[in-house]
Amino acid sequence: MSRPGVFYQKRIVLGVTGGIAAYKAATVCSRLVQAGAWVDVVMTEAAQKFISPLTFQALTHRPVYTDMFHIPDGNNIPHIVLADSSDLLIIAPATANTIGKMANGLADNLLTAIAMATPAPILLAPAMETDMWQHPATQSNITKLREWGVEVVGPAAGRLASGAMGQGRLVEPDEIVGAAQMVLARQGDLAGKHVVVSAGGTREAIDPVRFVSNHSSGKMGYAIAEAARDRGARVTLVTSAVLSAPFGVEVVQVDSAREMLAAVLEATEQAEALVMSAAVADFRPMSVAEQKIKKKGDSGGMVLELVRNPDILAEVAARKSSGSGPQVTVGFAAETEDLLANAQSKLERKKLDLIAANDVTATDAGFAVDTNRVTLLRIDGSVEELPLMTKRDVADAILDQVVQLLATRTRA
Ligand code: PMT
Repeated sequence: MSRPGVFYQKRIVLGVTGGIAAYKAATVCSRLVQAGAWVDVVMTEAAQKFISPLTFQALTHRPVYTDMFHIPDGNNIPHIVLADSSDLLIIAPATANTIGKMANGLADNLLTAIAMATPAPILLAPAMETDMWQHPATQSNITKLREWGVEVVGPAAGRLASGAMGQGRLVEPDEIVGAAQMVLARQGDLAGKHVVVSAGGTREAIDPVRFVSNHSSGKMGYAIAEAARDRGARVTLVTSAVLSAPFGVEVVQVDSAREMLAAVLEATEQAEALVMSAAVADFRPMSVAEQKIKKKGDSGGMVLELVRNPDILAEVAARKSSGSGPQVTVGFAAETEDLLANAQSKLERKKLDLIAANDVTATDAGFAVDTNRVTLLRIDGSVEELPLMTKRDVADAILDQVVQLLATRTRA
């Protein structure tokens, strides 16, 4: 069974205040519900001028709270129940008025009362006209709230309700959901750890328009980066693949093996773990032609002389033996024959803690597909053969081992 995502069965209070961007809160709400969260929506009076409570009721299948003094089940005081039971309070959009009340300890409606009473983390997504955002009152209120531990996402710059361009737009729903994910992930088993992941197939230039590469799409590495982020890690993704950057992950774009080596060494200086899922080219053209290579005559071939690329994991291992670099290193072995024997030899030769043996001949595993089938070999001799899984589930299985390995290193 797949590991549940960070929102699964989390209680989230979504506060909606009165701004034109209130309609975007419906998308945020829908995404959270689809991700398995229980979402209670609390609307201010002004918010209801822009969007109906019925919209949120239909999306959440739960009552929508609009009144401090209405007690739906006849017993419990809503602001106390919602404040105490929630895992996260998101306010999107957050107007200058609500931000001002929160920063000054005012609790004159249900939402601001919950904000004062809740022990849960709070995420604000401000939205307002640029002048209101830049006003010293708003800026000092935001600074004060940040000092109190409130998280703030946005606002973005762009076209505002007035038609003017400037800072003050509500960030897009995906960014709000991504920020919420990061806040919740802080309780994950990789919280406080820095994990470096590599992804994609490196490209080794032949001339200005051609390169030598392989079939790696980057999907495996991106899945590991996202899984590590969702477990609370700070993640650096060194990638030669061009996929959309996962929210909250630091992406370092590279092309060649030598660029990847430099980026990995820099990123792992202070990192706890490195997971190398990239398909790094073992060879590169001996020289790169300055101009596009032309065909000579109508027939005849061409010989491309290749030289060895540096082995990134070997360089990391060399640093590790001199006492620096990551505590845990994980590699992949992409094999077309003798899977386990070849993987075992790479595990030892590259001085890894763990290797994922990956048979890349299967059509449902390895390069470019969304699923993978790997066997995990640990340096202590343990072997775990995993069934066909999504790359995300493979990523979590690898990270389960990383968490265990890190625990033994910390105790040592
Ligand atoms: O990107 P996808 O389309 O999702 O595909 C995923 C994948 C098949 C690329 C991935 O699951 C995988 O198997 N990655 C390892 C590919 C590979 O290069 O394997 P290798 O057996 O050649 O290398 C062994 C290990 O050494 C790897 O961890 C590799 O990153 C590392 N290496 C290799 C060469 C080199 N010069 N330096 C290295 O550090």
